Amino acid sequence: PPPPPPPPPPPPPPPPPPPPPHPPPAPPAPYTETKSSAASDVYKRQGYKLAAPLTLLDKNTILAAIAPQTKSRLQEIQVLWSVDSTNRYISNQASNGVVPGLAVLAEHQSAGRGRRGRHWVSPFGRNLYLSLLWEFELDAAQLSGLSLAIAVAITRALTKLEINDVMLKWPNDLLWHERKLCGVLLEMKGEACGPWQVVIGIGLNVNMDSITTEEIGQPWVDLKSILGRNLDRNQLAALILSELLQAMEQFQQSGLSPFITEWRARDVCRDQLVELHFPDRVQQGIARGIDNTGALLMESDGVVKSYHAGEVSLRY
Ligand code: BTN
Repeated sequence: PPPPPPPPPPPPPPPPPPPPPHPPPAPPAPYTETKSSAASDVYKRQGYKLAAPLTLLDKNTILAAIAPQTKSRLQEIQVLWSVDSTNRYISNQASNGVVPGLAVLAEHQSAGRGRRGRHWVSPFGRNLYLSLLWEFELDAAQLSGLSLAIAVAITRALTKLEINDVMLKWPNDLLWHERKLCGVLLEMKGEACGPWQVVIGIGLNVNMDSITTEEIGQPWVDLKSILGRNLDRNQLAALILSELLQAMEQFQQSGLSPFITEWRARDVCRDQLVELHFPDRVQQGIARGIDNTGALLMESDGVVKSYHAGEVSLRY
């Protein structure tokens, strides 16, 4: 007799579950303090499995890890679930009379601001989006080196994680092997002779994972790829804040001078062919470092001039 027909093939496996949304839905209030349980609830309800355990930012954990000698300079820390931009949030608070020394971190930014009107890609729960409100009793000219001092403060924090090879692109981009690791956006308000209220916004790539280079528009790197391990963002936030607060005191007292040697040692552009982009033109030249105020020195046609504004790009 003919052999029995083969059994029907097994049904195809069900399709894999969709990846977590980017970002997960925000809770109802426009600005909401993060609650760890809330986050896991959202993930639980939607049935997603996280690729790596997600430790949310937590105000008390950050506060506990800030160096004791600097903690007193901080007035308050707020941790938000989602916000348009931590810089904008702080600027709003500042016009409502909030005191300097307020630090705001968010798990996600829907309209993160970069320099020159660019968008800062800010996926949920992966990186650091941090803004600090500070006040300086300095005049406009004395403030000119501030953004360089902030970049140095961040490199000091990264050195404590044994990341020593971060370079700086004028005025305050942090690069690792020519890829962007961290950006700083300063927004200032004040009278010409002071005081100045400054919102210091820091975006530090910690674990970008699924974010594509096209979304960011330039080569980038994150701390996870540099170190080959996951980092605790609460400890990292405390480390950055500790260095930043100390640096801001130092800058108020002594200006750029305590930072200048470190900035020069990390200058990625020095003696390189660069382009300096202005809204209406581009100037080519050879970068010749910075002067004592933090201005970029650039040589064109044998003449070295100092520049206080513009966007530098390296011409390899
Ligand atoms: C740059 O273009 O390099 C600056 C990026 C600054 C991004 C940070 S993220 C926290 C803060 N809030 C913002 O909207 N921007 C800054």
